[in-house]
Amino acid sequence: MLPVVVVHGGAGHVPKERAELSIAGMQEAARLGYAILKSGGTAMDAVVETVAMLENNPAFNAGRGSVLNLKGEVEMDALVMDGRTLACGAVSAVRRVANPIHLARLVMDKTSHVCLTAEGASQFARAMGIPEVPEESLITDYARKRWKDNLHKDANPVECQIGKMGTVGAVAVDVQGNIACATSTGGMINKMEGRVGDTPCIGCGGYADNQIGAVSPTGHGEAIMKIVLSRLILFHMEQGKSPKEASDMALAYMKERVSGLGGVVVVDPKGTWAARFSSQQMPWAAAQQEQLHYGMFHGEDFTEPV
Ligand code: GLY
Repeated sequence: MLPVVVVHGGAGHVPKERAELSIAGMQEAARLGYAILKSGGTAMDAVVETVAMLENNPAFNAGRGSVLNLKGEVEMDALVMDGRTLACGAVSAVRRVANPIHLARLVMDKTSHVCLTAEGASQFARAMGIPEVPEESLITDYARKRWKDNLHKDANPVECQIGKMGTVGAVAVDVQGNIACATSTGGMINKMEGRVGDTPCIGCGGYADNQIGAVSPTGHGEAIMKIVLSRLILFHMEQGKSPKEASDMALAYMKERVSGLGGVVVVDPKGTWAARFSSQQMPWAAAQQEQLHYGMFHGEDFTEPV
């Protein structure tokens, strides 16, 4: 099987001054994921380490760089899923961990549960030897400024979603033909304390099944949850649609039915991949057959050697 990894850096609007950082972050992450796959690593290792790299990159809304809730604090959500066994793990509203995606993987590997939340997730992190980091180390000046700028704005209609979304994610197929997905986010800017978005909800914020494919989405979490976006895309693929067709159908449905904007990266078991979005922009990159594809605006597909 020819391995492939596809990553995204969040649907929404990327300000001009952050465009280069976003694309560079996507390229770096896809290269890391591809190197893991080429050296025989599993799809799960590839998506988790790729997403951890994006969590460590302050250009993205996940880990360090997460958006802030109404109180000016960081609460993060993350999910992993293994398409071979359908094993999955997630954390929601977790605080003071550098890499929620590693914690989500530990929930999958070390507990009999699927999702741990808030203080329980923090206790589990401590039990697993994951160090607690100061809240301030996760907060960037840019996130603090956006929080202040948005404090008194109405956060409802579709237009207001633009610029407020984020999330990072990855899907991969490894040389064994196994498939996995991972998604991580700081959520929606100026969300209520305790708000849980789509990201840690299986079928919404990601899904992986060796028999069908894998999806990692980004966008307006409440809309994604209402239509169970990831599993809806895989349902369309089960009905014979390609990853691209299935993604476009589901994203169009989300826009029409619940006025939601978003984006997805998708793979199928043959390694066919797609990066699609209904928002203005979504930075993405894909690595396969020694080629790196990337883009950010609709219709873009730049290519260079990995
Ligand atoms: N899709 C990320 C969120 O709404 O939390």
